Amino acid sequence: MKIDVTFLSLDFSKNSMSGKDYSQSTSNFESFRKENKSNWHFDPSIESNDYEYLGRLDVDFNPLLELMKDDKNFKEFRMVEEMKGHEKLNSRIEEFRKWGFTEHNTKSLQMTDKDFPEVFKPFKEFSGLDFCNVVALKQYPGQCLPWHIDTLVGIRNEYGLSNDINIVRYSLVLENWKWGHYFLAGNNVLHQWTQGDIIQLLPNMHHTTCNSGIEPKLTMTVTGVVTEKSIELKKLKHFTYTK
Ligand SMILES: [Fe+2]
Repeated sequence: MKIDVTFLSLDFSKNSMSGKDYSQSTSNFESFRKENKSNWHFDPSIESNDYEYLGRLDVDFNPLLELMKDDKNFKEFRMVEEMKGHEKLNSRIEEFRKWGFTEHNTKSLQMTDKDFPEVFKPFKEFSGLDFCNVVALKQYPGQCLPWHIDTLVGIRNEYGLSNDINIVRYSLVLENWKWGHYFLAGNNVLHQWTQGDIIQLLPNMHHTTCNSGIEPKLTMTVTGVVTEKSIELKKLKHFTYTK
């Protein structure tokens, strides 16, 4: 996986297409920045390392990739859709809309280990994480997930995990890199990846991913509770699964 450190000039002050005043639309992000200024620099010009490369997963990807060819195997997910009973999250979602994101450009297709337990087994077991949730994502060209942090509230609520329990999320690529497929972790652009490459963001690191290419982008998140086994497996930097 190659890394480029990029300079991003985010100008929220004007938008000539819609005439929106984006300086009024960044309150959640600005609050986060103030609260977390001791945890990260929030300076797009700095060459920082904002994620950890964990290694490569060596398993047979074909059964999963076959499943992912058929869109009927997925559920549609839109990052700008409101979630009932999650006021804080909905406030962030509203902010995505103000930035210009829509139902169309934030759509992704998702399937989980609960939908296809047998096919997902290698992708669940390799990590050694407990309470492991796996999601495979398909993004068509023109679709992106806006600049956000992972709250991990879903898994905490699902399994009743308190805030002092250490939950991590691995991001995994399911195919070799294709033109137009990008992942931005803090100040680091990831591209030219190899099938099976796994990264982990630094805690509370903002990130975004998009497909501005010519073929669907296939990725995966693996989320779970850190265990002694998962720590040992991470040290090896090579992940596999045997039945
Ligand atoms: Fe995320």
